[in-house]
Amino acid sequence: MLEIYEDLKSKDHMPEIPESELSDEQVMVELTAIKKRLGNRVVVLGHHYQQDDVIAFADITGDSLELARKAAAIKDAEYIMFCGVHFMAETADMLSGPHQKVILPDLRAGCSMADMANRREIDVAWKYITECTSEKIVPVTYINCTAALKSFVGEQGGSICTSSNAEKVITWAMSQGEKLLFFPDQHLGRNTCFKLGIKLEDMVVYDPRRQHGGVTPEQIQKAKVILWYGFCSVHQGFNKSHIELWRQKDPERVLIVHPECSFEVVQGADLAGSTSFIVNTIRDAKPGTRFAVGTEINLVNRLARQFPEMDVVSLSPYQCLCTTMYRIRPRWLLESYRAIERGEPINVITVDDVTKKFALKALDQMLAIS
Ligand code: 13P
Ligand code: SF4
Repeated sequence: MLEIYEDLKSKDHMPEIPESELSDEQVMVELTAIKKRLGNRVVVLGHHYQQDDVIAFADITGDSLELARKAAAIKDAEYIMFCGVHFMAETADMLSGPHQKVILPDLRAGCSMADMANRREIDVAWKYITECTSEKIVPVTYINCTAALKSFVGEQGGSICTSSNAEKVITWAMSQGEKLLFFPDQHLGRNTCFKLGIKLEDMVVYDPRRQHGGVTPEQIQKAKVILWYGFCSVHQGFNKSHIELWRQKDPERVLIVHPECSFEVVQGADLAGSTSFIVNTIRDAKPGTRFAVGTEINLVNRLARQFPEMDVVSLSPYQCLCTTMYRIRPRWLLESYRAIERGEPINVITVDDVTKKFALKALDQMLAIS
């Protein structure tokens, strides 16, 4: 009897206090302890847009391309805890080994841009566009999409791209055919194609909400690039007036933006690139350099804190927050960790084998190009 009592008293058998009843401080303490206990069994990946209290637990941080590469390189960990959004976790699942499980701590962490194109819409668009022209069209999807869309480009001999390798991937795609179909982000597509020397008048926008995408067969025949009508609601928050305001107020300030921003914003800025490009540019700048940054507010605020020798502010006076990235909280990380420790993992993201086959082909194509 005493033995049982002693056993019950031991820390390992103390009943778990539900996460919902823990204070934020207790969550951090518990999370620190459980991360230590599970050690290398779990690797935590954190996208740059995550909040500081989540980044504090990340073993690896990065942009989409870096995190995809890291997910592919992790060999020993049983679990990859992905602190980012759903499409990133799906990508990690496809690139990781069959002995590994990918966990998304909050299943509601989606991406509004990824929701702007689905497989049925893409199939309809592809049928119409390919019937309009005899020229070869190469499809490229931004990594911000579901695995089903990645699978589509794999089936059609296309590729995936991220914001940091879009130039290389689009250059490759244009060498494989006469036309490019780029989805779901029209802005990344337009900004990158323009940088590569393609004129705006050679690009058309296909809007899936309209009959035949709102484009005529003649427009398709004439165009080099067909852009999907998709965008990021967060980066849509930056506009030309913000650029003009800073140019007026502080002409020396470096304006640096993400290529998901509109054409006018990217053209008006000094620099544009992926989240890691933004991080590295600010990190490597001369102390005292002043930046106005056009990207998600958690990253901008972290950069301002991390590099006090610089002057880092948001390009917009309003908070451009990715509310879905924001859903990942230490509390849900703890819940996922506890489930792993119990041997009953939750929030496991898996892509079915049929989808995975061609999606992986497209992912491998991207990794080979970049
Ligand atoms: P990066 O690949 O630049 O990190 O971008 C991901 C993203 O979703 C930006 O909105
Ligand atoms: Fe998606 Fe935009 Fe959030 Fe990036 S910032 S995850 S594109 S909604």
